[in-house]
Amino acid sequence: MPEYESNPPCWSWLPLPRGEAAEPVARRWLGERLDCPPEQLSLRRDDYGRPHLEGGFSRWDCNWSHSGEGLLIALGLDVRLGIDLEWVRPRPRAMELARRFFTAAETGALASLPTAQRESGFLRLWCAKESVLKAHGRGLAFGLDKFEFEISDTGIHLVNCDAALGDRAQWSVLELVPQPGYVGTMAWRPK
Ligand SMILES: CC(C)(COP(=O)(O)OP(=O)(O)OC[C@H]1O[C@@H](n2cnc3c(N)ncnc32)[C@H](O)[C@@H]1OP(=O)(O)O)[C@@H](O)C(=O)NCCC(=O)NCCS
Repeated sequence: MPEYESNPPCWSWLPLPRGEAAEPVARRWLGERLDCPPEQLSLRRDDYGRPHLEGGFSRWDCNWSHSGEGLLIALGLDVRLGIDLEWVRPRPRAMELARRFFTAAETGALASLPTAQRESGFLRLWCAKESVLKAHGRGLAFGLDKFEFEISDTGIHLVNCDAALGDRAQWSVLELVPQPGYVGTMAWRPK
């Protein structure tokens, strides 16, 4: 793939029937973009389960997420990236989960929204947080409260983060509408 096409990282939504493994589908998509036969692509999982491209593609980073009947996948050059996909469905425990996992300011912002907007606000925050966590690579155990977002009608902004995530200003966070009925977020920072 030409380098100019990878900044910002490129992403795609692909259908993934429930119960089907994601990696073979991801591998085919990555192989097409990197012009490499999928079976020759060196994809290693680290101790936290995060996939990494190796061999001649170690400057590239990829990540994928599956939810409902979809797969959201991204590929970028000289970045560390994470992506999250969520199938939109009722989230009656949204505020309970926010109080348990989000920062006090994020939970307060959700609580101040009209009731009808709280679940979608929760989902936007959840996606954004998971995408940053997936870029970082340590999983949910790192702590969803170690960094903070502000959401508005115009976008979502990382306003604070733990030193382990590096310089806050280096992070880009992009909200996606990959397919009707799904929301997604991609987060990346220079490697
Ligand atoms: C990583 C994690 C946040 C993913 O959340 P999720 O909503 O369940 O899953 P998603 O659909 O968004 O993403 C799944 C994909 O993320 C990738 N992934 C797995 N672990 C990852 C990690 N630590 N960081 C980034 N990406 C990861 C994989 O490609 C996985 O796809 P797969 O099903 O083909 O393996 C969550 O599973 C987690 O916290 N895992 C714990 C990681 C850990 O501590 N592992 C140690 C023992 S193995």
